[in-house]
Amino acid sequence: MNRTLLIIKPDATGRRLVGRIIDRLERAGFDIVRMKMVRLTEAEARRFYAVHEGKPFLDSLVAFMSSGPVVPMVLEKGNAVEDLRMLIGATNPENAACGTIRQEMALSVEKNSVHASDSNENAATEIAFFFGQD
Ligand code: RTP
Ligand code: MG
Repeated sequence: MNRTLLIIKPDATGRRLVGRIIDRLERAGFDIVRMKMVRLTEAEARRFYAVHEGKPFLDSLVAFMSSGPVVPMVLEKGNAVEDLRMLIGATNPENAACGTIRQEMALSVEKNSVHASDSNENAATEIAFFFGQD
């Protein structure tokens, strides 16, 4: 078993897609072990996305991620990081495979409904960001 972080982004909370996304995750075999709804400040969003410092899309991403409530959750499953990335699909919904969450729900490359950790190391950092070390 390992753990990863998923965030339901403001475009999805705003369209009342929280329940549908959770249903997709549970049907795919993920256990939700922590979950909450929070509104990030711009400073918090910038800290979360520090890995993207210097990228042209960062300011817009930070504004978007602090524009409404988000639902971060810790998910547990064998091969959790890789399996969740497969389930959410490519960053740009136009390139996301059929049956993925982003292909079904995302609006654009930025408003792409969900975030998922991209490595075990980043998963640990991102889980600690929202839920502390316990
Ligand atoms: P995420 O971190 O949210 O799971 O997404 P990802 O790994 O698929 O994509 P990443 O390259 O880490 O980018 C983080 C988020 O920034 C926004 N983005 N906008 N306008 C653009 O070209 C652009 N590129 C990325 C998206 O919200 C993306 O999920
Ligand atoms: Mg990423």
